[in-house]
Amino acid sequence: MSEPIISEWTPHHIQAFGSEPLRFQHTAHLSPLFSDETLAELIERTPRENYYVNTMKRGAKDRSSRREGEIRGLSGREVLDAVAKGHIWVMLLYPEKVNPGYGRLLDQIYNEFKEKVPGLRVSKKKISILISSPNIPVFYHCDLAGQTLWQVRGEKTVYVYPNHEPYLPQPNLEKIVLNEAHEISLPFDPAWDNIASSFTIKPGDMLHWQLYAPHRIQNGNCVNVSFTTEHVTPTVRRNFVVNFANGILRRTLNPGKLTQTTTGPRYWTKLATLGAAKILKLQKGREQTFKVDFTVDPAAPDCVRDIPAYQFSK
Ligand SMILES: [Fe+2]
Repeated sequence: MSEPIISEWTPHHIQAFGSEPLRFQHTAHLSPLFSDETLAELIERTPRENYYVNTMKRGAKDRSSRREGEIRGLSGREVLDAVAKGHIWVMLLYPEKVNPGYGRLLDQIYNEFKEKVPGLRVSKKKISILISSPNIPVFYHCDLAGQTLWQVRGEKTVYVYPNHEPYLPQPNLEKIVLNEAHEISLPFDPAWDNIASSFTIKPGDMLHWQLYAPHRIQNGNCVNVSFTTEHVTPTVRRNFVVNFANGILRRTLNPGKLTQTTTGPRYWTKLATLGAAKILKLQKGREQTFKVDFTVDPAAPDCVRDIPAYQFSK
């Protein structure tokens, strides 16, 4: 039996799991899965459909200058060097397809969650690796699954906001659920920082927060290596159904507030609406695509070189 990854659970961690922002201590940052050598190999072997790289103007406070890019013809080491001296944020999806060690890490994490949190029923889980430049931000957004952020290297500050109006407008959430809008399309008011929970996290720190809680991140002046784990539970799935159906209903009926209840006849009506929308392909052609207009180039300023823009969708 190996050592636990999450090194301490207090009664409060167990009781409040998934209902408020919580900081935990972990040991995953000590794993050889996060050495430069292993990460470089992971970068090199991750196919185009399984990574994102983005940039924005230095010091940008909003998403207007944010751009999506590509990595082409570089070794993993060159990409790591570009992260260290440039202004880029790299996300690697499904690392377990390249190196099964990440899958084993994910399994162990969820075995520990399930052992500690009564009634946690996880039907899907996912791990993604984040490698990002000094001082780069992640703009205000929400995620659609249960979300946990694990800090491996460097330091960043995470601001977590309440998961209700005005911080999370219902129509905006629905558009994200319908895949018509990017997660970072949520409106943000800097005045909300007054009520945010903020955490400066270092290697060995992990954060978990409540479903849909909007958050934004600011890297410290150092390279950051982190990973996220995400999970789907019956609650996550029911909230997805309700917000998907509400989004469809809002488009046709233009109502104000729609109930977000996840039980009873109203829920089953919404499940049927989602089923009908999928069968009728109501979403076809409405899903977002995005534009790729730079390539990572260690010789370019901020390691970002413009290329002719092209559309990309997953
Ligand atoms: Fe997030």
